[in-house]
Amino acid sequence: MAILNIRIIGDPVLRTVADPVTEFGPELAKLVADMTETMEDVDGAGLAAPQIGVSQRVFTYRIDGVEGHIINPVLENSEDFQADQVEGCLSIPGLAFPVRRFRATRATGVDLNGNPVAVEGEGLLARCFQHETDHLDGILYTDRLEGEDRKTALRSIRNANYDAITERTTTKRAKTVGSSFGGASFGGTSAGGASFGGGATT
Ligand code: NI
Repeated sequence: MAILNIRIIGDPVLRTVADPVTEFGPELAKLVADMTETMEDVDGAGLAAPQIGVSQRVFTYRIDGVEGHIINPVLENSEDFQADQVEGCLSIPGLAFPVRRFRATRATGVDLNGNPVAVEGEGLLARCFQHETDHLDGILYTDRLEGEDRKTALRSIRNANYDAITERTTTKRAKTVGSSFGGASFGGTSAGGASFGGGATT
């Protein structure tokens, strides 16, 4: 297994609709293992394959101590919303904003062996599933912001100083990229959004 480089906003792969997974073999198992290790390394709540440059419909998650992955996920969302909560994204370092998400969701898909899976969740888990499935459709959470938050987010990303933030994050992460499992740290190397008032960074 290996820790992979996380793509940053501006990379076209983050804006591409990912392809359904059709081949279930050792390569897919390695992808899921690497994504899981990468997510743990940056203390993330979730990671979608496009974020490590693979345009396939796979995400991993890690919420309240429960880890998993879903391949070719389809969400059935509740009609009502949960209270807005601050979200960050590993591909948009240094920023965090409250995002509107459906209260509950039921994610169906398959696991890396092609066996059907169904996971139901509310709160943070439902939020994570919606955030990650958006990634598979080329959507970033900043697209879902409105009003002043949206203006502030877009202005921050356009700001020349934002390049310095992303560079710092990439450099920090690069120290563990390519390393193998064993010395994975939890929290210590987080360059994502751990400093943002408990907002999940995915
Ligand atoms: Ni994200």
